[in-house]
Amino acid sequence: NNYLVIMAGGIGSRFWPVSTAQKPKQFLDMLGTGRTLFQHTVDRFKGICPLENILVVTSENYTAIVKEQYPELLDGNILAEPCMRNTAPCIAYASYKIKKLNPNANIVVSPADHLIDEFDVFENTVQKGLDFTAANKAILTLGILPHKPETGYGYIQTSDKNAEIASVKAFKEKPDLDTAKKYLADGGYYWNAGIFFWSVSTIIEAFEKYNPTLASTFEKGLEYFYTEKEGEYINEVFPACENISIDYSILEKADNLFVEKATFSWSDLGTWGSLWEKSEKPANGNSAASSKAKFYESKNNLVHTSTIKKVVVQGLEDYIIVEANGTLLICSKQEEQRIKQFLNDMQS
Ligand code: GDD
Ligand code: MG
Repeated sequence: NNYLVIMAGGIGSRFWPVSTAQKPKQFLDMLGTGRTLFQHTVDRFKGICPLENILVVTSENYTAIVKEQYPELLDGNILAEPCMRNTAPCIAYASYKIKKLNPNANIVVSPADHLIDEFDVFENTVQKGLDFTAANKAILTLGILPHKPETGYGYIQTSDKNAEIASVKAFKEKPDLDTAKKYLADGGYYWNAGIFFWSVSTIIEAFEKYNPTLASTFEKGLEYFYTEKEGEYINEVFPACENISIDYSILEKADNLFVEKATFSWSDLGTWGSLWEKSEKPANGNSAASSKAKFYESKNNLVHTSTIKKVVVQGLEDYIIVEANGTLLICSKQEEQRIKQFLNDMQS
């Protein structure tokens, strides 16, 4: 009864210029392991979900890449969105597809672009989460112990820090910096890892309650799913779906929200800075994976090049230097959130 939904429709704009709209970061080998982030994601769940129960929701522009990178996945389980509408419509679409296949399904939802080590711990945690939602009408999310006031995450206030699984007092998506600092000082909060568990009936009830328009759009689609009319129906209704994440749409509102403490090492590989943090580097902190680089009076820089083979850096600290797809980016690590904006400006 276990199903996996992989959300793989983001464009990874903060990893520009390596990640592009043509081939975003989840379909790239960002770690130099020989496998892409998306392939690693599927690999990680193979012991828990049979391959025929894995659904991937992505842009229609990436379905060919998904097939190429994981040919074993069933064609009907690769869901093509005609436009980006964030994670609530993506999850609603997958949930109703699964409902048609198996109304008793138990589901885990995962992003396609995270970095997770300690495979065994991860597998155990996921298995426990699925057992919990099979037995309870709960919306369950994984909580990570926070170590800095990151504003790009959701914050989960737990009712019991010692429990492995506890009910959630409040969920706040992407708080401002002052609020994040307050949460960190308080100590009773987790970061939302963005990995969710629920039974198909629980999540559909939540959509009916908190986003009835989305619910009825996909409820009406039930008769077309897994038929040749599915694509036509989705192309017609998807652009009209509300552009909203599952966090704002459901998690902030749900009264049956629970959190499971995650103890494996986790990183939302969201920015160049997070890749730099994860990379192995000498004491001076300069990391250069793909080129021969020489550093003088420099520390804590990240160099990532694709065609340039030799790089010399002098007098820089905490910089990101990336060359790919005909573009060179030099940006201070502190300002890396602005890369999204730089990309937009270059396109206009
Ligand atoms: N199919 C599809 N369609 N996938 C999407 C879309 C979409 O329109 N938008 C985003 N995704 C995918 C991304 O590729 C990623 O794998 C996942 O959904 C999460 O989206 P992000 O855009 O990366 O979300 P976030 O990082 O800002 O925030 C979420 O994750 C954080 C942890 O990484 C939230 O759940 C936060 O609460 C959480 O802390
Ligand atoms: Mg993310």
